[in-house]
Amino acid sequence: MKLVAGKVAVVTGAASGIGLALAERFARAGMHVVLADVDEAGLATATERIAEPGVEAHAVPTDVSDEAAVQALAATAVERFGAVHVVCNNAGVSTRADPWFGPLSAWTWVMGVNLWGVIHGVRAFLPHLVAQGEGHIINTASMAGLMPGAGASYDATKHAVVALSEDLYGTAQQIGLPIGVSVLCPGWVRTNIAEANRNWPDHLGEEPPAGIGADIIRGHFRRAIDEGMPPAVVADLVADSIEAERFWVLPHPEFVDVAVRRWHTIADGNNPEGTVDFPGLPSSAQIIEEVRASLSPPAP
Ligand SMILES: NC(=O)c1ccc[n+]([C@@H]2O[C@H](COP(=O)([O-])OP(=O)(O)OC[C@H]3O[C@@H](n4cnc5c(N)ncnc54)[C@H](O)[C@@H]3O)[C@@H](O)[C@H]2O)c1
Repeated sequence: MKLVAGKVAVVTGAASGIGLALAERFARAGMHVVLADVDEAGLATATERIAEPGVEAHAVPTDVSDEAAVQALAATAVERFGAVHVVCNNAGVSTRADPWFGPLSAWTWVMGVNLWGVIHGVRAFLPHLVAQGEGHIINTASMAGLMPGAGASYDATKHAVVALSEDLYGTAQQIGLPIGVSVLCPGWVRTNIAEANRNWPDHLGEEPPAGIGADIIRGHFRRAIDEGMPPAVVADLVADSIEAERFWVLPHPEFVDVAVRRWHTIADGNNPEGTVDFPGLPSSAQIIEEVRASLSPPAP
């Protein structure tokens, strides 16, 4: 589908990072944009930044983990613009909480935003896209959707987003739905995701404490993210993929190499290595050593 003036894009998680860059990219093509986010102040600022002539930017405060809110987002977008052509289910969070010894609320939060947010987005917009006879859905997963190593709840949700996106693509092909589907699987991108807990929701109670070593690991992640790919470059790749009807959006080939090596391990029937060396980070052995050292009592 061509991204041309007058078409309409909806982006979740649009107040920051990749979502904001996507909204700006679509606006540069002359498209109207609906920006959705749980961060209302950030959303207002982001919407004001979109100032292309002839482009309308409309903010809809939305918690994507809430089905009714996402249905209302779809209804508002259709009511306002009469159509929606591009839907980016992009909002996402990650947690420092321990997945197995910490409270379940961290799972509830990450699953709610990263997985249910995408499910709600597909279910709310798909009928509109099909009825109007064209449209493209882009779900933001991660390289953590193709290889574990970024934390259990994040990995689990991102694997699920890759799988459901591939299923949706298959269904569209099999029954001839007039829509395109893409899944975005980035490595490090320069955004605010390392501070995802700024959006910890009150209704889940106290934010769980960081798990053992989580702050050390998060420090390495933060540095890699700060040195990562600019979000505008990712947004250009997404735009190209929509126009080329390309399913896989893989901005970081060096991560794909690691995922392929993992698949060789699987095909060979070998047990997982237990640790993954991510591009852009010190070796996992080095990070584990740092965590161990932080736990050791100081020498007398
Ligand atoms: N930055 C990276 O290195 C990286 C790598 C791979 C995948 N991703 C994915 O990219 C997507 C965008 O993240 P980002 O890196 O731009 O981070 P970001 O923190 O800069 O932006 C995420 C946005 O999602 C919003 N959000 C959080 N909870 C929400 C909710 N319940 N409802 C609606 N919006 C909500 C936040 O307010 C924020 O504006 C996420 O799905 C993330 O998992 C990021």
